[in-house]
Amino acid sequence: MKKQIISGVQPSGILTLGNYLGALRNWVKIQDEEEYECKFFVADLHSITVSQNPENLRNNIKSIVMQYIASGIDPEKNTIFIQSHVHEHSELAWLLNNYTYIGELNRMTQFKDKSKKQENVKVGLFDYPVLMAADILLYDADYVPVGEDQRQHLEITRDIAQRFNSTYNKEIFKIPEALITKSTARIMSLQDPTKKMSKSDENKDGFISLLDPREVIEKKVKRAVTDSENVIKYSDEKPGIKNLINIYSAVTDKNIEEIEKEFEGVGYGKFKQAVAGAIADTLEPIQAKYNELALPENNEYIENICRKGAEVAQKIAKEKLKEVQEAIGFITK
Ligand code: TYM
Repeated sequence: MKKQIISGVQPSGILTLGNYLGALRNWVKIQDEEEYECKFFVADLHSITVSQNPENLRNNIKSIVMQYIASGIDPEKNTIFIQSHVHEHSELAWLLNNYTYIGELNRMTQFKDKSKKQENVKVGLFDYPVLMAADILLYDADYVPVGEDQRQHLEITRDIAQRFNSTYNKEIFKIPEALITKSTARIMSLQDPTKKMSKSDENKDGFISLLDPREVIEKKVKRAVTDSENVIKYSDEKPGIKNLINIYSAVTDKNIEEIEKEFEGVGYGKFKQAVAGAIADTLEPIQAKYNELALPENNEYIENICRKGAEVAQKIAKEKLKEVQEAIGFITK
């Protein structure tokens, strides 16, 4: 039996360099390992926990599928699907609500942060981690490759699964583990290196988008907040430089020591130029592939991938949901 992998991204816009380095790039690496079977989905149900414009949402969902493929996720090797096409996600989330405590959802830092930004806090935002648990538990996932910000959601998923299993004294759910790559687990904002890089940042200079052209990347990196020391050294006291070194290391595959040596005696200006150039070199082929996929003649190709992916996913999800319903005591059809 191959190890099962699942992960997803919310369709709330163009992905950032943080999403790419923290999640997608790792998915691309995992897909080539024989022992893994991967499913990647577009978390459209999650995205409506903050308000969405219907036209933008429709476009963003398709765009995320194209960004997956452009980033190197091979639709022949992996299952790619849209979350809402597999209604079992919503159904299992409802069931799991009854095995989840209000107290534990109250402790979720993402909920605390995001609810501060909503005037009337929605139940969906509060319940978000339960839907995420359903996404993962439906597929008996062994590993969930994500960035550091999702660690707490993985922990609650494990707690819910264990609670359900022990309630019915049966191993219905596999207990999943987060798969987090340390060096890229938390790519920080270029404008405030104590905050994570986020696509919803109001300050567009804070993040690099997967589709930013070279000149924009150069401008954003040039403006990146650093310190006045003018020394390229990897240190917690220099969060701006540390973040740029982490990014440079990720896109060039050079280690920290090599990088410090490469830029010894060189000022921030030159270093930033090199970082921007390396990011642009990494993103250019992704952008070329994305532009090709976005041509109208490729629309059907994308739709077919999603249709086939949903069929594969639903077969598995349906079986798991039935097992859960039977354990609870429902009469299944
Ligand atoms: P989302 O859409 O916020 O982010 C997608 C992925 O990118 C990672 N990430 C980062 N990694 C490093 N540095 C950053 N600055 C950074 N920003 C984002 C996230 O950790 C994530 O892996 N709740 C999820 C979507 C989801 C999901 C799931 C994931 C829904 N159901 C089930 C895994 C399994 C989210 O909002 O990701």
